[in-house]
Amino acid sequence: MSKSIGVISGKGGVGKTTTVINLGSALNQFGHEVIVVDANISSPNMGTYLGNPIVAATLNDVIMGKKTMQDAMVMHQSGLRTVFSSISFEDIKNTDVKKLAETLKQMKGFGDIILIDGSSGQTDETIEVVKASDEVLVVTTPDLTSVTDTVRTIKIANEHGANVLGIVITMAKNQLHEMQVKNIEEMTNHKVISVIPEDEMVKLAAKTKYPITYSYPDSPAAVNYKKLAAYLIGQKYEHEVASKEEGNILSSILGGLK
Ligand SMILES: Nc1ncnc2c1ncn2[C@@H]1O[C@H](COP(=O)(O)OP(=O)(O)O)[C@@H](O)[C@H]1O
Ligand SMILES: [Mg+2]
Repeated sequence: MSKSIGVISGKGGVGKTTTVINLGSALNQFGHEVIVVDANISSPNMGTYLGNPIVAATLNDVIMGKKTMQDAMVMHQSGLRTVFSSISFEDIKNTDVKKLAETLKQMKGFGDIILIDGSSGQTDETIEVVKASDEVLVVTTPDLTSVTDTVRTIKIANEHGANVLGIVITMAKNQLHEMQVKNIEEMTNHKVISVIPEDEMVKLAAKTKYPITYSYPDSPAAVNYKKLAAYLIGQKYEHEVASKEEGNILSSILGGLK
């Protein structure tokens, strides 16, 4: 039976999609059958980060009953199994978000971990993602406004019976004005299970259309996403820098993509 993990936040733009792609890719590299699904119907970005592959069906088509979930599953070149949402204005307008949870539940049985790129705030989209998730990861940046909004998002998860796995802090710059892990844990009443640093490679990866855990595996954010993946599957990850030869092969593949 597969486990579904929703990735949600209080605010938008805090790193949910980045987390889903890189955590998914890391779990995949650790031998798990992962499917990442873009369930952020109103703001679908996962495709943009992964090169907008041509797909036979989108999650919207499945919600509308036009296609099946199998039709919508597509393998990214990084080896990650994906389901994308439509970026078309018409499709977004015609998609009944209230059918999201029941549609996402159709993914049970495909793969062993389903990572759901969710929405932010107290919206129907967030509630639907929570309803479809066994567990949730709550993503926040280390600032007071984002953490304040996170507290309300956690309440949504609690109301709908999803287990909160923990808080993932992203884009941490280790600067004085940032909130400390201890304070974030006190405010949210949950454990911070990962701190992903601000990393230029994340922006570069958006250009190469690959997860950084795949294309820049030694970058600080990639290493911490791999540690988070290991934590979630009950393992410990010790990072070893890839050999020069492996690095060269990968950079020539990526070089060819530009
Ligand atoms: N660790 C990081 N370092 C640098 N930039 C990041 C990092 N994580 C996310 N970003 C950038 O922040 C922006 C928002 O990230 P995204 O994952 O799209 O957030 P969300 O899905 O919550 O809206 C993007 O431009 C992304 O490239
Ligand atoms: Mg997003």
